[in-house]
Amino acid sequence: MKKKSGKKILVIHGPNLHLLGKREPKIYGKFSLEDINKALRAKAVENKIEIEIMQSNSEGEIVEKITKSKYDLLIINPAAYTHTSIAIRDAILGIDKPAIEVHLSNIYKREDFRKKSLIGDVALGVITGFGKYSYTLAFDAAIFFLNDLAK
Ligand code: DQA
Repeated sequence: MKKKSGKKILVIHGPNLHLLGKREPKIYGKFSLEDINKALRAKAVENKIEIEIMQSNSEGEIVEKITKSKYDLLIINPAAYTHTSIAIRDAILGIDKPAIEVHLSNIYKREDFRKKSLIGDVALGVITGFGKYSYTLAFDAAIFFLNDLAK
């Protein structure tokens, strides 16, 4: 049996992601946010790692969460704030903790305004375009980073 890692991953879903399943299903899929969260929680149990998940439509609330919570690694889908938020970028820079940026859709295949991320270059890496699996891939990358890369 694996030992508890003592590490914690914080997952933040940005604006409008609470609408998953109903929102533009051709782009974002038919699954709900709860389906994604269930898969992440199962992976956390499997890897004996603590996980906290939040969704917020508010930039300020996301900044508060990033800067005032205790965790070892952040997985964030900043959603529309990806393309606009210097505040979220600065929050990630401010906490000096690894962050993985996640998108369901491939932002580089979409409108020009989505091709620019203000977060990507301050993140450990970016996973974009694999639907709900973007999150589980990000989780695997997080475990890889926390166990191996960070040493
Ligand atoms: C998104 C892509 C963003 O451009 C968009 O505003 C979203 C979702 C994605 O997961 O594909 O809300 O982050």
